[in-house]
Amino acid sequence: PKRRDEQAEPSRTESRQAADRERGKYLTTAQGVRLPDTDHSLKAGPRGPSLMEDFHLREKITHFDHERIPERVVHARGAAAHGTFRAYGNASSVTKAGFLQKGRETPVFVRFSTVLGSRGSADTVRDVRGFAVKFYTDEGNFDLVGNNMPVFFIQDGIKFPDVIHAGKPHPDVEIPQAQTAHDTFWDFVSLHTEATHHVMWAMSDRGIPRSYRTMEGFGVHTFRLVDAEGRTSLVKFHWKPVAGVHSLVWEEAQIAAGADPDFHRRDMADGIDAGAPLEYELGLQVLPDSDDEMFEGIDLLDPTKIIPEELAEVQLVGKLTLDRNPTNYFAETEQVAFHTGNLVPGIEVTDDPLMQARLFSYLDTQLTRLGGPNFTQLPINCPHAAVNDNLRDGMHQTLIHHGQAPYLPNSVDDGLPRTATEAEGAYVHRAVEVGGPKVRANPASFDDHFSQATLFWKSLSGIEKVHVIEAFTFELGKCFSTTIQERMLESLARVDAELCAAVADGLGLPAPDGTPAEDVTPSAALSQIPTGPGPIA
Ligand code: HEM
Repeated sequence: PKRRDEQAEPSRTESRQAADRERGKYLTTAQGVRLPDTDHSLKAGPRGPSLMEDFHLREKITHFDHERIPERVVHARGAAAHGTFRAYGNASSVTKAGFLQKGRETPVFVRFSTVLGSRGSADTVRDVRGFAVKFYTDEGNFDLVGNNMPVFFIQDGIKFPDVIHAGKPHPDVEIPQAQTAHDTFWDFVSLHTEATHHVMWAMSDRGIPRSYRTMEGFGVHTFRLVDAEGRTSLVKFHWKPVAGVHSLVWEEAQIAAGADPDFHRRDMADGIDAGAPLEYELGLQVLPDSDDEMFEGIDLLDPTKIIPEELAEVQLVGKLTLDRNPTNYFAETEQVAFHTGNLVPGIEVTDDPLMQARLFSYLDTQLTRLGGPNFTQLPINCPHAAVNDNLRDGMHQTLIHHGQAPYLPNSVDDGLPRTATEAEGAYVHRAVEVGGPKVRANPASFDDHFSQATLFWKSLSGIEKVHVIEAFTFELGKCFSTTIQERMLESLARVDAELCAAVADGLGLPAPDGTPAEDVTPSAALSQIPTGPGPIA
């Protein structure tokens, strides 16, 4: 771990670790007292009750009693690895971010996760996967907190508690596969048609990746890059796996979930141990900055939309290699704290209303999850850049700060930090114009909920289409409510008539009125699919 505050004494963690190494020969209490026996409590006679006076018994049991912290409210199930990001240097034309300049190597910690399952759930369930990268750059930590799908279910973060409540295990029995849990998810999705595009991705093979090493990653939102001259551009971040994109088929995913619930984390850990690192290239879709923040009719603030790669090429700007397993799952994977607000000069956020809510949510939840405001001092969260903040005290403070006047400006303490200029590396926000009436509303450009869902469907190969039809049929088939199934079919009808007809047939329901192609029958739909295994039973 790096020293977090250059003005402070070595942290307790560091001095403890040094001390532990020096006297590691003997088992001790937390106070450093050597122990003669850790298998027998101190008793009043061999058959007597244990004595209150047994400080070792009480310390050992008490510490054990408090070993757990709350799991993440979402993305609780995860696995992580250390590695390095090497920049090719071509991104310097669009951003001044130091870690993207030519030849720069930056340590990283990456946590992959599922969204809805608890910490002990299975890896291969159908779900979105988190792809969170912490870059320990010379200019401070930059977190790219992404997913393996490029769009999101909702356009405004105020609905995040709602979509998660609808998808998490049902609150009475906490069974994710309960009929009612399927009802709540599909109820939400069919009542919020903005979710349709993301649901198409989730029901596709992307929802059951074969391995973390064969997953793409996406920053989802549009970011604003700033170059050394202060020029700006808008950008979408992509991770492209060197091993290619590969998925499981549904039957494999189900078998793996039962036979080896650790399928993905085992694959990553074993691969790294065997000398096969996970590799990805970072890609940028660079778009012109503009007052309306639109590109080819696509609203760049709408997180339910992609920019098709045909319209803006993904330019590869660096390589991520994950080649070291964590030393301790709890200290690293469980305690790592990603935050979309961890930005470095040259990378800014936009006003995407999903991103805006995220900027509040991560720090807020970590205050509870990690027990107060000092979790940035945990070794896994420590920036590798020098830190000299005037933040003081609080639960779990591990630093011994010097001085008497932790405020600026002051004329009392010598040697306090001063603020930096932009030329000295300060993070200075671009002076982007904002304005307008105070309203609870979306722009009209957010109203198109289906065209990109259709685009996604049309981009699939025949067998991929069959998998999507099977997934919708299976998942909607678990719904208790026919009303919800019918409402979802209405959405699918607006995505594609063949898709809708095939799913309706699978559910034993009529395709809804208004399905455009009258002559479309499920078997006709499937016969048009070039490589599928045939009509679904
Ligand atoms: C956790 C991604 C939307 C709140 C995470 C994690 C990822 C992620 C990857 C796991 C981080 C880890 O490994 O520790 C995303 C993406 C989103 C999104 C890509 C949309 C594009 C949101 C929204 C909110 C939110 C809208 C709230 C308004 C949270 C919270 C956590 C979390 C509270 C748990 C963090 C922790 O306990 O450390 N998210 N998320 N997310 N996300 Fe999001």
